Amino acid sequence: MSRLAAEHNAINLSQGFPDFDSPPELIALVDKYLRAGNNQYAPMAGLPALREVIAEKVDYLYGSNYDPETEITVTAGGTQAIFTALAAVIQPGDEVIVFEPAYDSYAPSIRLLGGLVKPFELAPPDYKIDWTMVRKLISARTRMIIINSPQNPTGAILDEDDIQQLITITRGTDILILSDEVYEHLVYDGKAHLSMARYEELKERSFITVSFGKLFHTTGWKIGYCLAPTPLMSEFRKVHQFLVFSVNTPMQYAIAEFLKQKDYYTGLSAFFQEKRDFFRRLMKETRFELLPCAGSYFQCADIKNLTDERDTEFVKRLTTDFGVAAIPSSAFYGRGTDFRIIRFCFAKKQETLEQAVSLLTKV
Ligand SMILES: Cc1ncc(COP(=O)(O)O)c(C=O)c1O
Repeated sequence: MSRLAAEHNAINLSQGFPDFDSPPELIALVDKYLRAGNNQYAPMAGLPALREVIAEKVDYLYGSNYDPETEITVTAGGTQAIFTALAAVIQPGDEVIVFEPAYDSYAPSIRLLGGLVKPFELAPPDYKIDWTMVRKLISARTRMIIINSPQNPTGAILDEDDIQQLITITRGTDILILSDEVYEHLVYDGKAHLSMARYEELKERSFITVSFGKLFHTTGWKIGYCLAPTPLMSEFRKVHQFLVFSVNTPMQYAIAEFLKQKDYYTGLSAFFQEKRDFFRRLMKETRFELLPCAGSYFQCADIKNLTDERDTEFVKRLTTDFGVAAIPSSAFYGRGTDFRIIRFCFAKKQETLEQAVSLLTKV
């Protein structure tokens, strides 16, 4: 969709990336560390100073201790962390439960490793998980459940009841959890992000993957991290060592210094909630029906009032004829299930959102 948007000079609300810059102070720090000659390999697990500040952040936010020495690894973004966690533990024939619609890297990565994807389709408008049905998917071969809260593309988040169900379902089993928490700071309306790190029983079986790209509006930097208890992390590092070895050194120095400012990440949900509310207010002038958005920087919209086309056909026409690119939600289902929902990314400047919505009012 981004390519089609570029070809047609359309406003790109499809792919999940901001069109505004990261904090100037962070850019200045990168510049400082580049010029100071920090341009050689970093330690395999990440700069100790960065791992320490990550540990402080996780403790501050979730009251959870991770040992920087053995339980935190800096990665080349969230996607690499996800692949590495899967490669560390998935053997041919292992089953992995994936809630769909899902971020597109999960299923191919599992299959590449010989694992079997067990999709669990969630439906609009609230994409609520029916845990009784999830239980039926669990077999002796279930190795892992992938959780993504806040979820891309739906903007749904897990609540306390979901967490308790997850605890019950996995208790007494060897099932691992891969918790993709790249949108951990983007939770709205005063709700808390329920990280796996908060719950001892879940933490001990979880890889938690996070992306600095989402945190600093720097998706092009490709840097993030993984948290996991020592036995899981030691497996993770065996893969990490030969997949990327180590990650971009000057960025690590800069982030280690910048991340000490708690105000930055604690203020992020208010910053994005304002964008969500602004976009939703503008969208009232259109015929799109908006779904709830509790977190992430995605807003889903129902297109049934607008067209009889498949969501894939509609978004193409939206781009070519109306000049706004979005993503069809069927692209996030392994079987291409079409609920006639499309996804917009609202991590954009106010003027970008205004221009996009003025075009969307014509649909
Ligand atoms: C749910 C989810 N996980 C992981 C990622 C990837 O993060 P990164 O860009 O750091 O690889 C994304 C990016 O869009 C995402 O939406």
